[in-house]
Amino acid sequence: MKKFFKWTGIVLGSVIVLLLIGYAFIYFSVESRFNKKYEVAEQPITIPTDAATIALGEHIAAIKGCGDCHGQDFGGNVVIDDPALGLVTAPNITMGKGGLSSRHGTFTDQDYVRAIRHGLDKEGKSLKLMPSYEYQPLCKKDLAALIAYLKSRPAVDKEMPAIAMGPVGYVLANFDKLPLIVAEKVNHSAPLEEEVHPTVTVAYGKYMAVSCQGCHGSNYQGGAPIIPGSPLVPNITGKGKLSNWTEDQFIQTLRTGVTPEGKKLDPKYMPWPMAKEFTDTEIKALYLFLKAQQTS
Ligand code: HEC
Ligand code: HEC
Repeated sequence: MKKFFKWTGIVLGSVIVLLLIGYAFIYFSVESRFNKKYEVAEQPITIPTDAATIALGEHIAAIKGCGDCHGQDFGGNVVIDDPALGLVTAPNITMGKGGLSSRHGTFTDQDYVRAIRHGLDKEGKSLKLMPSYEYQPLCKKDLAALIAYLKSRPAVDKEMPAIAMGPVGYVLANFDKLPLIVAEKVNHSAPLEEEVHPTVTVAYGKYMAVSCQGCHGSNYQGGAPIIPGSPLVPNITGKGKLSNWTEDQFIQTLRTGVTPEGKKLDPKYMPWPMAKEFTDTEIKALYLFLKAQQTS
């Protein structure tokens, strides 16, 4: 009997040691990806201050869901708070106490571009979980308007706690199951297009559909969810859900969060409140584009 306990002790002990070594390996490998520095070329951009530009910027911020994470007043918010996954906060991005200048000393127009278009902080390290891969294709006009709008927002004094990943967060990041190290997912050398005109065309729909790729995949065919606890992500192509939805039913779904089949979409997993802000032109173009995706 004594011998039995001795051997189980040794086996259990070895398993624990192996697990700890494995975790240490994961931890350091993810940390080194966090700390990697990226060099990106500066993109000359002028930020206008006229009312029409700021109104366009407000619309871009609404359809890209910036306030869902940063708070509707952009003073910061908790995005994930889970003992195993970790604490992910979206920082205060106003000019108040705890905001951009107060944390970084200064925050230039290029710093906004680096964060929004490249997913990089002021030192060139990857931001965590900030979906810059979805904002990277924004044209210069829309990007400048977005920055103009952010700069026009009232200062909010609010200090958010720092991001602290938990063990499960590290493991998921290690296996790329959580889009945490965003700079790795961005094409840093993609050109900055001058202007993309909103028209009901497949091309404009493609520009809009970038906001769906993060979850529905680069081919919009869905699959395993990226948000822990989320339902499976459906196929939203012409071969999937859209095969028998009319344009009207698609618009109704995105504006009410209820599908033609009567399924209620949980805004925690499917961000329809962001899609609700799409203009008629934007949503119709998106339908055209998704419906035209016919490969299965
Ligand atoms: C899914 C949640 C989420 C959404 C949506 C989001 N962000 Fe972020 N954002 C974050 C997080 C988290 C950080 C902090 C990352 C870090 O510190 O590593 C961040 C960082 C930033 C920063 C850099 C702040 C700094 O101090 O360096 C800026 C600027 C920013 N976001 C702007 C935006 C804008 C503009 C939008 C909309 C186009 C947006 N964010 C949408 C989560 C989000
Ligand atoms: C943060 C992840 C996420 C993003 C971003 C996202 N979706 Fe979804 N979407 C989901 C999930 C998860 C479901 C399934 C929800 C459910 O079953 O309750 C879903 C469901 C849907 C449905 C309903 C399909 C059905 O089951 O009947 C449509 C339509 C849809 N999404 C369209 C879009 C479009 C268009 C975009 C881009 C503008 C988009 N989604 C962006 C996660 C996302």
